[in-house]
Amino acid sequence: MKTLPPVALGTWSWGIGFAGGDTVFGNHLSEAQMAEVFTTAMSKGLNLWDTAAVYGMGSSERALGALVRQFPREELILSTKFTPQIADERSPQPVSDMLEASLGRLGVEEIDLYWIHNPLDVEKWTPELIPLLESGKVKRVGVSNHNLAQIKRANDILNASGYAISAVQNHYSLLYRASEEAGILDYCRENDITFFAYMILEQGALSGRYDSNNPMPAGSGRAESYNTVLPQLEKLTAAMKSMGAERNASAAQIAIAWAIAKGTLPLVGATKVQHVLDAADAAEIQLSNEEIILLERLAAETGVDTRGAWEKPML
Ligand SMILES: NC(=O)c1ccc[n+]([C@@H]2O[C@H](COP(=O)([O-])OP(=O)(O)OC[C@H]3O[C@@H](n4cnc5c(N)ncnc54)[C@H](OP(=O)(O)O)[C@@H]3O)[C@@H](O)[C@H]2O)c1
Repeated sequence: MKTLPPVALGTWSWGIGFAGGDTVFGNHLSEAQMAEVFTTAMSKGLNLWDTAAVYGMGSSERALGALVRQFPREELILSTKFTPQIADERSPQPVSDMLEASLGRLGVEEIDLYWIHNPLDVEKWTPELIPLLESGKVKRVGVSNHNLAQIKRANDILNASGYAISAVQNHYSLLYRASEEAGILDYCRENDITFFAYMILEQGALSGRYDSNNPMPAGSGRAESYNTVLPQLEKLTAAMKSMGAERNASAAQIAIAWAIAKGTLPLVGATKVQHVLDAADAAEIQLSNEEIILLERLAAETGVDTRGAWEKPML
């Protein structure tokens, strides 16, 4: 695989419509905003873009594709997903069909990293990745939201044809460490699998921007998930802010630095130019063991469980 940057960027919040940026995040990003975020990230070497066919039912991929078309393909690392729940089961090849539609929206011939979005049916969907790898339209594959047994099983299925899982993409943040507790981080390290940590900022709840006086946008999915628990997070976000202030950095950068210190590749949802500048610089921040222990203790003391509605328990 091409050399990965220290932070990957996600575009779930970019599209609109079903499971899109407006419904989930309360966002309505203009084309100009997305273009500014994209070009700034590229200028900082943040060239790994994650999306999914299901995000806004193609709308995130279309928005990303408009920008992808403006850059040489070899400068980009593109990551998108097959979501079993929206597969066209009447087709003889639903995975290939979804991939082709993604390629069309992104305006590319191949995907660097293609994921099975969730473990709805590991036995059924994992083998469908093999012809895509053989065709060269997919360079590497990964699994997302899978528990350890499902990851191992998917890897066994691929190994039998001479392939392997290159990456795992799971929810992992100070508030949600199930993949660490379940041994998935260790398994990935031992098997040369990159662990993509998604929602390290808990959709903004750990960014330091939101609190009970300044809640998340009313009517959005994230407001529903997080606004009621924001008061419980304030001690943790205050500590993140103060650790950041000592380094002229933000609370969000402390969350990113923590995820890197844990051996993961943080996958950050960026909606503003400052977010990509923060992400690029966060890789330079070194947290001490004492700071990591303090952050994890404060996170545990919040008593908040942020497992997403789409996630199954990892243990
Ligand atoms: N595989 C899966 O099932 C799955 C599930 C979830 C996410 N993902 C992937 O992971 C990516 C990231 O997840 P996410 O976007 O849901 O959540 P996230 O990265 O935890 O949070 C993103 C939000 O945090 C805020 N933010 C980002 N950088 C910031 C900074 N430097 N300073 C202050 N605030 C900052 C922004 O909020 P504001 O816009 O309010 O400023 C942004 O919308 C997604 O885009 C997607 O690619 C995958």
